[in-house]
Amino acid sequence: MADYLSSWKSEPTYFDESVKKKSNGTNDYRLPQEGKRNVLITAALPYVNNVPHLGNIIGCVLSGDVFSRYCKIVGHNSIYISGTDEYGTATEMKALKEGKTSQEICEQYYHLHKQIYEWFNIEFDNFGRTSTENQTEIAQDIFKKLHANGYTSVASLDQLHCGKCDKFLADRFVSGTCPNCKYEDARGDQCDKCGKLIDAVDLIDPKCHICSETPVVKSSNHVFLDLKQLSPKVEEFINQVTSAENSHWSANAIAISKSWIKSGLEKRCITRDLKWGTPVPLEGFEDKVFYVWYDAPIGYLSITKTLLGDNWTKWWKNPENVELYQFIGKDNVAFHAVMFPSCELGTGDKYTM
Ligand code: MF3
Ligand code: ZN
Repeated sequence: MADYLSSWKSEPTYFDESVKKKSNGTNDYRLPQEGKRNVLITAALPYVNNVPHLGNIIGCVLSGDVFSRYCKIVGHNSIYISGTDEYGTATEMKALKEGKTSQEICEQYYHLHKQIYEWFNIEFDNFGRTSTENQTEIAQDIFKKLHANGYTSVASLDQLHCGKCDKFLADRFVSGTCPNCKYEDARGDQCDKCGKLIDAVDLIDPKCHICSETPVVKSSNHVFLDLKQLSPKVEEFINQVTSAENSHWSANAIAISKSWIKSGLEKRCITRDLKWGTPVPLEGFEDKVFYVWYDAPIGYLSITKTLLGDNWTKWWKNPENVELYQFIGKDNVAFHAVMFPSCELGTGDKYTM
């Protein structure tokens, strides 16, 4: 496919030839420069567990590409970053279905995604992935700071556990009879017949999707992020950025993030009983990983590090000199405008936000 597709590839026109220079293995590839507009552009990281569809491309990847080409043509100093979002239940499910390891699934679909975006002539400065050492390092650093600053807590949660599979079952790994309408094939999170949301532990006669055994309720500890405590900081950030003269947040993004703040932030569980994810650096959490939505936005940072090494901070910890533009779908607004900024603010470090 790639060969046939590459015949469509045409070089974009640059006014400033120096910005065309691709990474030459050194770390001085396109760093922010004094006296220039330094523009950091990201496109939401597509989930790795499926074939990309037009929605991914139209929704953010193509818009981001148009903006990135514009910035380069007019001589701004800019980089465009994206990659695959690889961790979590969805990947583990897919691996189970296809009889492969999670790692094999990611390997296969990462290349597929990359090729398809090349086919569309999308020009990223780096199209990376989240399952890397850099990701672990940055995600753990942010967590350790949140923990040290008192923005985390540990509490026990009741979940269904399958003894045969030796696994806590995520909602979509279990089905059973709906406690509300008695429909026999309700999912662990919702009943398709009566539409009611279900707490998986309330299912009558639950069955493990993997082996069909009956799971039992078991409790285990999880880490929660105290968004309530972080809420004044994130509210101030949202107000400040949306009232700025050069603010470019979409009307949708402003409305969604303000309504989240208005309805009040609660603490959120940021760990999961899975194997495929970033390890949680806390005693007693050796068998758990970070929740994929705690982890995913950190992918932008780690994928930049994969391109630039330690110089990644010159883009991401440089709010005075860098403007950040994020292209995302509307389902992703809360994570980009509320949740991830809360994490950044809670570290006490100065991020480009
Ligand atoms: N994978 C998510 C989706 O497709 C988007 C992740 S964006 C990121 O909806 F910021 F979290 F990386
Ligand atoms: Zn089982």
